[in-house]
Amino acid sequence: MSVTFKALENILERYPPNSEHLISALQDVQAKFNYIPPEAMNAVCEHLGVPLSRGWAVATFFKSFRLNPRGMHEIKVCLGTACHLKGGARLVEGLERELNVCRGHTTKDLSFDLDTVNCVGACALAPVVVVDDHYQPNTSHRKLRKVLKDLK
Ligand code: FES
Repeated sequence: MSVTFKALENILERYPPNSEHLISALQDVQAKFNYIPPEAMNAVCEHLGVPLSRGWAVATFFKSFRLNPRGMHEIKVCLGTACHLKGGARLVEGLERELNVCRGHTTKDLSFDLDTVNCVGACALAPVVVVDDHYQPNTSHRKLRKVLKDLK
């Protein structure tokens, strides 16, 4: 979602201009845009009378705040021991090529986040990839291609 004056106004009107509302307002911004856009941070800090440096300090301190846009779909490739032994690393490399993105990043069109995790607790089903919280057990690059195609 793009940052619009109306969307920001809807968030800001919930809070009186007081610095104690900084975290709540940023949580609302993230719920709306999936990350903290710089324009939104400017508007929140100005409205609450908080220095911009403090706003960014808070946003970077709490891991729950995202400072970059997220993809519409989240792909997590398991690289725990069992999945690694069954080709998890090759799946990551294949996805990096397929999506033209490095692990830990979001595709340019904001369709996908690609990340790795260390064991999702389904080792018997290795290699496992989790796509939008749905486990893809005993998966392969061919199967993942179909999953991605269905999501597009
Ligand atoms: S190592 Fe992948 S699920 Fe455990």
